[in-house]
Amino acid sequence: MNCDVAIVGSGLAGLTVALHLAESRKVVLISKRELRDGATNWAQGGIAAVLDSRDSADQHVADTLVAGAGLCDEGATRFIVERGRAAIDWLIAQGVTFTSDEHAEMGYHLTREGGHGQRRIIHAADATGHAVQMTLEQKVRTHPNITVLENHFAIDLITSDKLGLASRLPGDLPQCLGLYVQQVESGKVLTIAAQQTVLATGGAGKVYLYTTNPDTATGDGIAMAWRAGCRMANMEFIQFHPTCLYHPFAKSFLISEALRGEGGRLKLPASAGAAAGTRFMPEHDARAELAPRDVVARAIDFEMKKRGLDYVDLDISHKPAAFLMEHFPTIHARCLELGIDMTRQPIPVVPAAHYSCGGIVTDLSGRTDLQGLYAIGETACTGLHGANRLASNSLLECVVLGRAAAQHMEQQTRVARVALPVWDESRVTDADEEVVITQNWDELRRFMWNFVSIVRTTKRLERARHRIRLLKEEIDEYYAHFRITPDLLELRNLVVVASLIVSSALSRRESRGLHFNRDFPETLPKALPTVLTPASVLTRANDLAED
Ligand code: FAD
Ligand code: SIN
Repeated sequence: MNCDVAIVGSGLAGLTVALHLAESRKVVLISKRELRDGATNWAQGGIAAVLDSRDSADQHVADTLVAGAGLCDEGATRFIVERGRAAIDWLIAQGVTFTSDEHAEMGYHLTREGGHGQRRIIHAADATGHAVQMTLEQKVRTHPNITVLENHFAIDLITSDKLGLASRLPGDLPQCLGLYVQQVESGKVLTIAAQQTVLATGGAGKVYLYTTNPDTATGDGIAMAWRAGCRMANMEFIQFHPTCLYHPFAKSFLISEALRGEGGRLKLPASAGAAAGTRFMPEHDARAELAPRDVVARAIDFEMKKRGLDYVDLDISHKPAAFLMEHFPTIHARCLELGIDMTRQPIPVVPAAHYSCGGIVTDLSGRTDLQGLYAIGETACTGLHGANRLASNSLLECVVLGRAAAQHMEQQTRVARVALPVWDESRVTDADEEVVITQNWDELRRFMWNFVSIVRTTKRLERARHRIRLLKEEIDEYYAHFRITPDLLELRNLVVVASLIVSSALSRRESRGLHFNRDFPETLPKALPTVLTPASVLTRANDLAED
């Protein structure tokens, strides 16, 4: 299959790039499940942008830098924040219906979340992501220049390096020529040649046992880019959302931070005995429930471990029921289904892995270390989030960088195609024991939760590194001998992501933002990003130097 641009991923990042390019390019949009099956569809709180004259880009930048604990790239932050209004205008022009407020300057209700000094989160009640996803999806499906490939799994990138070819573009960097994609139903593997390839594959929350993320968040783009020779930055900074619903039948259901923004209070639950009902956040931080997420998640973790609790309570029942049902209809309905009436009683919550602040190193056009390869959205690291993402900045980044990348791609001249090799299955057979995959999935996610989550120690990280090595060997051997399946591909990718997180965490000899290591509790005076380079690239650089 030939196309101008192959986009992997159909969340806000992928949809934004597709719609911006479709007027001038033939686009193929690849998604491993249905288009809506990504994090975007589940986003609740909203999108941060400066939309009121009492607010300013300077204030939004300042709040982002504070949350990022010294590690945000200020230039990238300013670039993204200053394009916030245009990004929201574009979404509104596409038909996204945000919650209105006749008293607001722009006519839209703005909510507040932790770490924001102003009300600046535009939202569609408590289901912002769904509103955005459905609106853009409908446009993509009907655009004549966009071919949608649902239930197609991107396996690996095809690069000039892997084929032993010189890049046909100026400069020293190897070139991305396309990718291999498996049709999930038939198992058949397609070769897709593209002038430009975009990784918009989202995050990697599934590397942890408990996560707010959907099943698609297995870090596939990060692993593909790493295998292809791209650098990764800041992979140790995994954001744990403080308030994921605690219930045996609720898989990964988030209780939006906007609930705390509108007055929700964190309290000790009935199982805390005499202390039950006590608000504990004021003891941990002067900003109480509106402190940034790392602070709130660590405080909850501390209280749960100290008191042996399974969860803590989030209580907003002091607000009028009508207000809660208007602003949080999705959360209200889901809780009610499970027997929790948030207008009268607290909601049990626990922290869970939520967002990967690090990822594929890109510039402000989404360009990676390979020519022709772009990375946008949660899979990328532009420098915006630093050591801790400010709430609701991620959807903003998807749109701003999606638009910037499309603009950059439009300026590129086309290069002559080369014939790409087809996928070779001649040396593999059907798997004999699928249980190897399920066992390794469980093991990986459990030890990542126990050893590499909110509070880390060097010994725990080393234990995790040892286990990752063993798993990686087993999975690589399995991959070499047996026919691929989505489960095997995801496991192969997750183990790469786990190893990048652990290597980055071990190399950071301080505590900063989301990374807290008990053996290095201090924050060093100078903030430096953690950048990992694939061994293949280092070898190539050495060879070039010796030549
Ligand atoms: P996604 O939306 O996750 O899309 C990734 C896409 O890539 C999916 O279509 C997936 O199927 C596809 N894909 C992945 N691997 C492959 C492969 N190998 N082959 C083919 N396709 C593949 N952020 C905010 O700013 N505001 C919020 O209110 C907010 N709320 C959130 C609530 C929840 C519950 C969660 C989980 C996250 C929330 N976030 C929020 C974070 C935000 O939703 C995500 O960071 C953002 O949606 C990521 O968009 P994306 O396009 O990069 O990835
Ligand atoms: C939320 O609604 O709490 C999620 C917001 C975010 O992750 O940015």
